[in-house]
Amino acid sequence: MKFFVDTADVAAIRELNDLGMVDGVTTNPSLILKSGRDIIEVTKEICDLVEGPVSAEVVAKDAADMIREGKLLAAIAPNIAVKVPLTWDGLKACKALSSEGHMVNVTLCFSAAQAILAAKAGATFISPFIGRLDDINLDGIELIAQIREIYDNYDWSTEILAASIRSVNHITDAARIGADVITAPPAVIKAMAQHVLTDKGLQQFDADWAKTGQKIG
Ligand code: E4P
Repeated sequence: MKFFVDTADVAAIRELNDLGMVDGVTTNPSLILKSGRDIIEVTKEICDLVEGPVSAEVVAKDAADMIREGKLLAAIAPNIAVKVPLTWDGLKACKALSSEGHMVNVTLCFSAAQAILAAKAGATFISPFIGRLDDINLDGIELIAQIREIYDNYDWSTEILAASIRSVNHITDAARIGADVITAPPAVIKAMAQHVLTDKGLQQFDADWAKTGQKIG
């Protein structure tokens, strides 16, 4: 499973990248807003840092303008994946951009039917949003399972990029089902290292070590 980081915070990406934990990055307009940076400038900086795909999202609503924006974003670096929304116009833009050899990430996917259309339109990645489905009491993980089953039935190469990840359980559940990629905020990735028994075990070892009166080195 590939690990993408869901942020436009360059310092946070660098910290995880230095540990070899970053296979790619996803951004969206909300994350660009949060970064306070210019989209072109910050996306270029991320592309220079990370070898894998870096998703940058178009904001136009009609296909022609999405294609125009997508080409501008793709010109930033060879590892850009143009992110388009799962609308009819977004699917048209996906087809046009993927036919020209660009990586395309189709985002805001909330149903298996939408995921089928994205694969047919040549998407490199489909991004089902787990957390936002859970927010309205639907089952985001079940959607990942449905898409996995369908794509495997036909050997479709579009990669399932589990997005809108809010918890460590989302990541392990997506991994068990066989999502190709997860994209998660840096804090959720770092939370994967935490366990209450690890903390408790360390406290015990510290206490016992102090009683030995020894030092290493
Ligand atoms: C990534 O591609 C998505 O835009 C992102 O995961 C959405 O996450 P959110 O639902 O927490 O905003």
